[in-house]
Amino acid sequence: MTGSALSAPTLALGLLAGVLGLGACAMQAEMPQPSEGAKLYANNCAACHGHRAMGDEPLIGGQIAPDLTMLASRNDGTFPRAEVLSQIDGYAKGTHVGRVMPEFGAVLTGETVPVDIEGTLTPTPRPLAALLAYLEDVQT
Ligand code: HEC
Repeated sequence: MTGSALSAPTLALGLLAGVLGLGACAMQAEMPQPSEGAKLYANNCAACHGHRAMGDEPLIGGQIAPDLTMLASRNDGTFPRAEVLSQIDGYAKGTHVGRVMPEFGAVLTGETVPVDIEGTLTPTPRPLAALLAYLEDVQT
């Protein structure tokens, strides 16, 4: 009786230690900071989407790159991570006739970090995750 009463908390403690251990691992490869994405944005995206991600830069042919600070508000207040990732990466290309924006999936590669995409932790190349963090940070 006493033995089993003792073993339950011991087991719980062991489980807790396991969870904390996992947590510590996840911390090492956490979501990059917006500042990391800001540099990538300046180098790869600002030419078309503007220095503050507000669009308005007329492109060759007169097209205007969309304002990227309104992505969340145009999506009922939720930043559409999956759509934004596929747009940057180029997955969305097949669905967008006459797409102007280049694909970045082949150049923005690197170690993957877990990114919560609609409730699923999805391994995502770090530069793409950093851009996501930056864009989420500039939502208005
Ligand atoms: C050559 C110009 C150009 C560059 C460079 C560019 N984009 Fe775009 N982007 C566009 C255009 C134009 C669109 C509108 C869709 C289309 O025509 O492809 C767009 C669409 C988007 C969208 C979807 C916006 C919406 O309203 O749904 C996102 C997100 C985006 N770009 C992010 C980025 C990021 C992040 C980068 C840098 C890694 C980048 N873009 C680089 C021109 C560009």
